[in-house]
Amino acid sequence: MNVAPPPVRLGVLISGEGTNLQAIIDAIANGDLRADIRLVISNKAAAGGLERARRHGIPAMTIDHRVYANRCDFDHALVAALQSRDVELVVCAGFMRLLSPVMIDAFRGRIMNIHPALCPAFPGVNAVRQALAYGARFTGCTVFFVTEGVDDGPIIVQAVVPILPDDDEAALAARIHAEEHRIYPLAIRLYQEKRLEIDGRIVRIRGYENLTASGTLVNPRLD
Ligand code: GAR
Repeated sequence: MNVAPPPVRLGVLISGEGTNLQAIIDAIANGDLRADIRLVISNKAAAGGLERARRHGIPAMTIDHRVYANRCDFDHALVAALQSRDVELVVCAGFMRLLSPVMIDAFRGRIMNIHPALCPAFPGVNAVRQALAYGARFTGCTVFFVTEGVDDGPIIVQAVVPILPDDDEAALAARIHAEEHRIYPLAIRLYQEKRLEIDGRIVRIRGYENLTASGTLVNPRLD
């Protein structure tokens, strides 16, 4: 008899509004994701996401990076808090700090991040602005496993968003955000179902081996 994998124990790291955190909370509430958010940590006390967590009865705390002498000391504090709640998978959701080897070694292969571009394009800050300024026809968002590099770890899920002639940064960011809210819960669900296997740069997804192409995207359209 096959036993369903248990809910995954999450620690969510945020710095801001926490709309991705909200999407994860909603996916759990809807039964689309079997997960237990053990702890939400923000490096900023004013982050709106802390309030969202508390509203849902999820433990939430601030660990202010400015209190620590360096990145490694800050990360030791993160590791201690996450381990004290027995966190299995760390989910960075708009967490605007680079992680040091202290965090990456403590949770190797068990830290996800989301970036508002199609990695490896437009890493770092202001990814939406970068895509617009570059004149790209498509951008999107990427969920990946965090490594030592900036936004360049093994890719789990991507969503493509076309750039429209009248787009400004706010309009494009809003459409990317909507896709983020769909793909982050999916990536976590694939992890919870133990379907993800990291093979160097490549993430293999069990159960998706025989996919066929269901179409291509052209922008502007061909007709
Ligand atoms: C998201 O768009 C996420 O992709 C981005 O921060 C936003 C957080 O939104 N992260 C990065 O740019 C990381 N390089 P949220 O706080 O509403 O979830």
